[in-house]
Amino acid sequence: MIRSVVRGFGAALPKRVMTNKEMESRVDTSDEWIVQRTGIRQRHIAGEGETTASLGEGAARAALDRAGLTADDLDLIIVATSTPDNTFPATAVNIQNRLGMRHGAAFDLQAVCSGFVYAVATADAYIRGGLAKRALVIGAETFSRILDWSDRTTCVLFGDGAGAIILEAQKGEGTKADRGVLTAQLRSDGIHGDKLYVDGGPSTTGTVGHLRMEGREVFKHAVGMITDVIEAAFEATGTTADDVDWLVPHQANRRIIDGSARKLGIPNEKVVVTVDLHGNTSAASIPLALDAAASDGRIKKGDLVMLEAMGGGFTWGSVLIRW
Ligand code: UT7
Repeated sequence: MIRSVVRGFGAALPKRVMTNKEMESRVDTSDEWIVQRTGIRQRHIAGEGETTASLGEGAARAALDRAGLTADDLDLIIVATSTPDNTFPATAVNIQNRLGMRHGAAFDLQAVCSGFVYAVATADAYIRGGLAKRALVIGAETFSRILDWSDRTTCVLFGDGAGAIILEAQKGEGTKADRGVLTAQLRSDGIHGDKLYVDGGPSTTGTVGHLRMEGREVFKHAVGMITDVIEAAFEATGTTADDVDWLVPHQANRRIIDGSARKLGIPNEKVVVTVDLHGNTSAASIPLALDAAASDGRIKKGDLVMLEAMGGGFTWGSVLIRW
């Protein structure tokens, strides 16, 4: 059977780092509150000329270099983002053009913080369905541009960045020993739409709007939803928490990450955490964390890697990959 195997990975971050100390000079907050409640110590903030497409392009080029491929070798680009450069055309098509790619297909996918998990699941379905041979999957965001910088309950939480992986069709045996995506479990429930949203859009206000969140309400649902889709991935593949080499969660809050790992019985040493350095970068957080842990040699070929995310919508999901 066909499997979607990871051929490369890469990341790009804005140059400017904003520490919690600097945040103290903008809103009524403290380094101590932010660290205790979220685990965040700093975040990267896009500057002039840095956009979702430019960061996505940087991550894409790094992934292509690492894979020893060029844009000519790709036939699909999916960009998970909620902060596109323009309402249209899609940021994916912008990045396709920046890479000089004149063939294949490119489109954006919007599932907020679960965007990367949704995009990997979609690329995997294209590859296994024979519609693509090599897909570039990018999570890229500039949430700093949709934050209300006077709202301390949200502006301290988010950051900007991009990460990418390249998935390639390879033959597998159809067992859990295969390399590649072993399962994807996606869920959504729009009843929670008013708990995390942007208060504007092309068809309503004609503006971009600002992010609004009832943090406590989101928090209340997070651990349960995350552990449900991870357990569904275990059931679908005949694996258990003991088989997982690395849990690479969406990086929203250290307490949610720790709570989910504890509930699943996955020890802290097997959890990749970057929320301290990046804050919540929405769809970019998982590929940024993958890049960090695969670059420094923690994630190795053959390792079983569980991705999970939960966010606006609500949307949530998991992907189990043998690296
Ligand atoms: O990525 C998509 C998914 N998103 C998430 O997973 C986010 C989920 N939610 C969270 O991570 C947490 O709910 C937050 C980090 C957003 C907030 O933590 P919390 O422990 O739920 O705090 P809270 O909202 O219950 O607020 C506690 C107190 C409040 O004061 P009172 O009412 O107790 O006097 C807030 O006004 O903390 C206050 N507060 C702040 N204080 C200092 C809220 N924001 C800040 C701040 N600095 N930045």
